[in-house]
Amino acid sequence: MSNYQYIFTEIDDAVGKIILNRPEVLNALNRPMITELVNALETFNKNENIKVILLTANGRSFAAGADIKEMKEDDPIYLEKLDQFAEWDRMSLIKKPIIAAVQGYAVGGGFELVLSCDIVFAAENAKFGFPEVNLGVMPGAGGTVKLTKTIGPRKALEWLWTGEYFDAKKAYEYGLVNRVLPVEVLFDEAMAFAKKVATQPPLSIRLIKDTVTKAVDLSTYESMQYERKNFYLLFATDDQKEGMQAFVEKRQPIFKGK
Ligand code: CAA
Repeated sequence: MSNYQYIFTEIDDAVGKIILNRPEVLNALNRPMITELVNALETFNKNENIKVILLTANGRSFAAGADIKEMKEDDPIYLEKLDQFAEWDRMSLIKKPIIAAVQGYAVGGGFELVLSCDIVFAAENAKFGFPEVNLGVMPGAGGTVKLTKTIGPRKALEWLWTGEYFDAKKAYEYGLVNRVLPVEVLFDEAMAFAKKVATQPPLSIRLIKDTVTKAVDLSTYESMQYERKNFYLLFATDDQKEGMQAFVEKRQPIFKGK
């Protein structure tokens, strides 16, 4: 357990779990909550014993977006000076896998949070979308960009302009979530998956995330050059020696993250 006001953190073996905890407002993401979330992510990122981070939420919904009551009187100069999305940028620097388990609404900033995670398990009752247009604004934490890169501009515009929500099945069809599960098994399945990834060689996991992330932004040529360097780099690890030796000796490898 941890000293946060709007989230909880727990450690289960090599999995660091972060639980959004403002269920009375469907985990609306006020600014202190984002600060806590980023601090918790960075703390787990630095902890050598944690291999994977699992992000979940208390209550009937994952997160219903930024806290509208907190921001409704904001003006542009205040927002520019506040630079609140710099906190979101810090999330993109987390090297360890982040797995999200999503139930109920994950909309607005809540959906942006989902799009900031590496793997997403969704409950059958999950609903995604960007309702910002209904408030006279638009997503500001990367939503338009990440949605467009995943599903293409036409589909993205449809959802961004209408502000309508789509269900987990549609999200799966669009490649926005990895699995759709009954809500009763969502958290256990997400934890089981997190634990499975946590047994893999950590430096491979880290550099695979790094390379896949770069592949989204760089050209094919540049990302293949980048991939090659990371491939070579892994030959400096004990885990590469152990993994290949174990294969030759027909035994299970013991990875140490070195
Ligand atoms: N901000 C502040 N409070 C919120 C909230 C939000 N984003 N979403 C829900 N709440 C509060 C409600 O005001 C309500 O509080 P009270 O009981 O005090 O009235 C409580 O949470 C429960 O919500 P509802 O009664 O509305 O629940 P519902 O099941 O009827 O509806 C919902 C669920 C459709 C998600 C609805 O709550 C809703 O439309 N929420 C707002 C969604 C939204 O517009 N999000 C985008 C925010 S802007 C953004 O995220 C910008 C960005 O890029 C960062």
